[in-house]
Amino acid sequence: MLTTRTTLTRFLIEERRRHPNSSGEFNSLILDVAVACKVISRQVSLGALAGVIGKVGETNVQGEQQQKLDVIANDAFIRASEWGGAVAGMVSEELDEPYTLPEPYPKGRYLLLFDPLDGSSNIDVNVAVGSVFSILKAPHPGQDATAADFLQKGVEQVAAGYAIYGPATALVLTVGRGVHEFTLDQTVGEFFLTRQFLTVPAQASEFAINHSNRRFWSPAVRRYVDECLQGSAGPRGKDYNIRWVASMVAEVHRILTRGGVFLYPRDSKDPSRPGRLRLLYEANPVGFIIEQAGGRASTGLTPVLEHQPTAIHERIGFVFGAKDEVELIEAYHRESYPDTDESLDIPLYAHRGLFRSGD
Ligand code: F6P
Ligand code: MN
Repeated sequence: MLTTRTTLTRFLIEERRRHPNSSGEFNSLILDVAVACKVISRQVSLGALAGVIGKVGETNVQGEQQQKLDVIANDAFIRASEWGGAVAGMVSEELDEPYTLPEPYPKGRYLLLFDPLDGSSNIDVNVAVGSVFSILKAPHPGQDATAADFLQKGVEQVAAGYAIYGPATALVLTVGRGVHEFTLDQTVGEFFLTRQFLTVPAQASEFAINHSNRRFWSPAVRRYVDECLQGSAGPRGKDYNIRWVASMVAEVHRILTRGGVFLYPRDSKDPSRPGRLRLLYEANPVGFIIEQAGGRASTGLTPVLEHQPTAIHERIGFVFGAKDEVELIEAYHRESYPDTDESLDIPLYAHRGLFRSGD
């Protein structure tokens, strides 16, 4: 019976009882975000019936083609969370500048950062997509947030989560005390607690990387992947599976469910981009979730949550998942690699200097 299950609201109220001085604003913000995720889930599931498939013809600040659903999802996040008095400002992957609350909405104590529709290149092909969000404390509660207010390290997050719109819609959340999964009952319109205290095993036998970028990888990443591919005959002594969904949320969800490691490392494809994924609303929230589940989240060399952001749409190399695997990848990055014939065709990585200065 669903009535015996814990709803997201009940979970949040019970968490709040641990903090007697809390005002309830934080809970209402998470519930507002959950409303946005339900709206997006509905639109995603209707697909072509709702006329929401396709591009809008605009390019966002990231240089990516905006899909209609990117815009719908961005509006859903803003409309659901701007009115309640909990936030002082928002940063979205789809907006060049931070979103300032219009009059007459009161400015609150939190900052909301989000990727409204992660993996949106997968929409047309009906593969799982998701939303990712991070909540920080506003340095100047009650005032409009400036871009500088959002430039906080990932360790400062008070909550992080994602929704995955797959065969089922699930919301995975941490408020700093473990990672919990809530599955949406579409008819009741409620998220119910389905798994608690998710953990990522320290070892893995599955890894995710976009292998088409191989020629741009650092020698350390090539070494790690090559050793996995050698399987039981190689130095790792066991066989590995490869997975690549191209929706980060789907990869996170798989890793939280059955383990593994994910790499979108810094590479030499576009020297102006120090990685593919965005620090503030992709790597940091996922990093917080993974570390709360006992895994490790890294730039490839150091913990991603310790990285000081310098721009709201900053990109970063991102490696996360099984602790032992991520530590091995970090160790490989600390080693130096000779100018072998192989590394000469990617001169940027012929020496260890790039990661030394950049990270
Ligand atoms: O948001 C960026 C993103 O779509 C992630 O969800 C995904 O992991 C990655 O980019 C896919 O990248 P690529 O297109 O290189 O496979
Ligand atoms: Mn994304």
